[in-house]
Amino acid sequence: MAIVWPGLLVQAADNLAEFHRDRGLSCVACHDEGPPLSDDNLSLENRNCSVCHGSLETVSVEIGEREIDPHLSHLPGEPACTTCHATHSPSVPYCSACHSFEFNLPFAGTWERMEASIDELQQQSAAHDSAINNPPRDTVDVIVIGSGGAGLSAAVAAADASARVIVVEKEPVIGGNSKLAAGGLNAAETRQQAALGIEDSLALMTADTINGGKDKNDPVLVQVLVSESAGSVDWLTSMGADMSDVGRMGGASVDRTHRPAGGLAVGKHIVQVLYDRASQLDVDLRVNTRAVEILEDQSGAVRGLLVQGKYTGLYWIQAPTVVVAAGGFGKNNDLVASFDEKLRGFAATNQPGATGDGLNVATRAGAGTLDMQFIQAHPTYSPVGGVLVTEAVRGNGAILVNEAGRRFVNELTTRDVAAAAILEQAGDHAYLIFDESVRRSLQQIEGYVELGAVDEQLTLSDLADSLGMDATVLTATVERYNGFVAAGTDQEFSRQDMARPIAEEAFYAIEVTPAIHHTMGGLRINSQTQVLSGDGESIRGLFAAGEVTGGVHGANRLGGNAVSDIVTFGRRAGQRAANYAGVN
Ligand code: FAD
Ligand code: SIN
Repeated sequence: MAIVWPGLLVQAADNLAEFHRDRGLSCVACHDEGPPLSDDNLSLENRNCSVCHGSLETVSVEIGEREIDPHLSHLPGEPACTTCHATHSPSVPYCSACHSFEFNLPFAGTWERMEASIDELQQQSAAHDSAINNPPRDTVDVIVIGSGGAGLSAAVAAADASARVIVVEKEPVIGGNSKLAAGGLNAAETRQQAALGIEDSLALMTADTINGGKDKNDPVLVQVLVSESAGSVDWLTSMGADMSDVGRMGGASVDRTHRPAGGLAVGKHIVQVLYDRASQLDVDLRVNTRAVEILEDQSGAVRGLLVQGKYTGLYWIQAPTVVVAAGGFGKNNDLVASFDEKLRGFAATNQPGATGDGLNVATRAGAGTLDMQFIQAHPTYSPVGGVLVTEAVRGNGAILVNEAGRRFVNELTTRDVAAAAILEQAGDHAYLIFDESVRRSLQQIEGYVELGAVDEQLTLSDLADSLGMDATVLTATVERYNGFVAAGTDQEFSRQDMARPIAEEAFYAIEVTPAIHHTMGGLRINSQTQVLSGDGESIRGLFAAGEVTGGVHGANRLGGNAVSDIVTFGRRAGQRAANYAGVN
């Protein structure tokens, strides 16, 4: 039977370990009779938590209904209890790294990233040398750095080709930025588009991508992205993904953004699908495990990876290939600002681990980089709740107005243009305005409601009052826009796609402002996902995919193209790495 202790907050103990000890539980109630304690996933400890307290679902029921239940949140995989409930130190709600709500967590401390830099770790010479001089702790065919969509796609593809695979993830939970992906995955000429009567072509997706990227994209990588996009959707659906809802995001000429039915967020769904498949294929996935150094032999070929386990310390894994799928650096404001000073102090939509240290690991092994100065701000981040408001809200019919209640931009233009336009408005912010029919079309909106980001009113006039706007101006703006919808032409801002009028009670507003979202630059790769040095030579055994790479998106990524990128290039990297390792 599940046991929870509702009186936790009034205990004299300083942390959960003491609390358990005071209740007569010995160390072995949680730990093995180590050392070693267990592993960096704290698998044994987490299993023992559930023996007494029940599964996440059980705990959720025991605690009772609440508006936001962290136990049933958007974390894919099997998030460990110890992610938030630390034991020998104050617990820290991991969610508070992004969101602004507070949880009544016993013995809670404040979330703070505390880690040595990769440079510092590589320079701790005694520990470093001793770890490298010891025998490898494991030997596999392919090591993947990062458990986001690119990493899991690589792991699944490599394991499908019979490779033995270890994935290392430095955060306590899997999924990286991928688990947060909202609006969807772009692909052209898919079965899903055909079923909905949408006419698209590879040429059109290529033109949109290069136009969005200001012609700075690597055309060879774009060709791979586009030509394999439908195959990537098929690959995901063959593993059980639902990609049946097709909508539009900024900069696209037609509806090609694929997501689950009902407008559910794409990221958590596909990470879960990939995680389930990786588990079936016995991929060894280690969280709390940070890649520190790519090890090369005297000829410069990859021979393994030095990692730091949060609990198990520095050790190395032997393998002839490493796939770097460590994501971007949007959450590292100092690094962002070093490339684009305008973005200093900006909030970010990214997960806490998007600090760029995987990038650093690869460059220290000789990898070249490109396009580092291209960093994208997403136009619609809600400071209330600390959450990205998906472009799909606009794609499904919302408009943007300023404090005066007036539209000021084509809401479905590319992100760089929309973000710049918002920053030109008073207060550097704007409001998304939409109606009940948009809310119904996109289940993700319920999440924003739960986070307290949405102002809901029965009439437009009430909404204007609540926002402190002139009601006649807001009403006139919406009526004028509805006229454009009926006529099929936006005479004010030439918005091409106006999904529906804003006419059905109730009416909603979300305050938004731009936030750092995507780092387009990164490691230099070729179409085979091999990492290239600054001189353009491939580094033998080193592959990369996803946001850690540069070139695919040029100067500005289109909404929906990153998830397409990570699945296509991640899968490619896994196949090529397995092949390089000599696995059939
Ligand atoms: P990630 O998913 O970020 O994974 C990288 C992983 O590597 C992370 O878990 C990180 O912790 C880990 N890591 C880093 N360094 C190390 C190290 N040294 N050792 C071990 N592990 C390490 N794009 C779209 O196309 N459509 C969308 O709808 C969409 N919505 C988005 C919504 C949000 C809120 C955000 C933030 C992004 C969104 N994007 C979207 C962009 C897209 O999600 C990302 O670009 C993409 O998921 C990146 O995938 P990835 O696998 O390359 O990196
Ligand atoms: C969004 O849903 O607005 C984010 C999509 C993306 O970054 O591609």
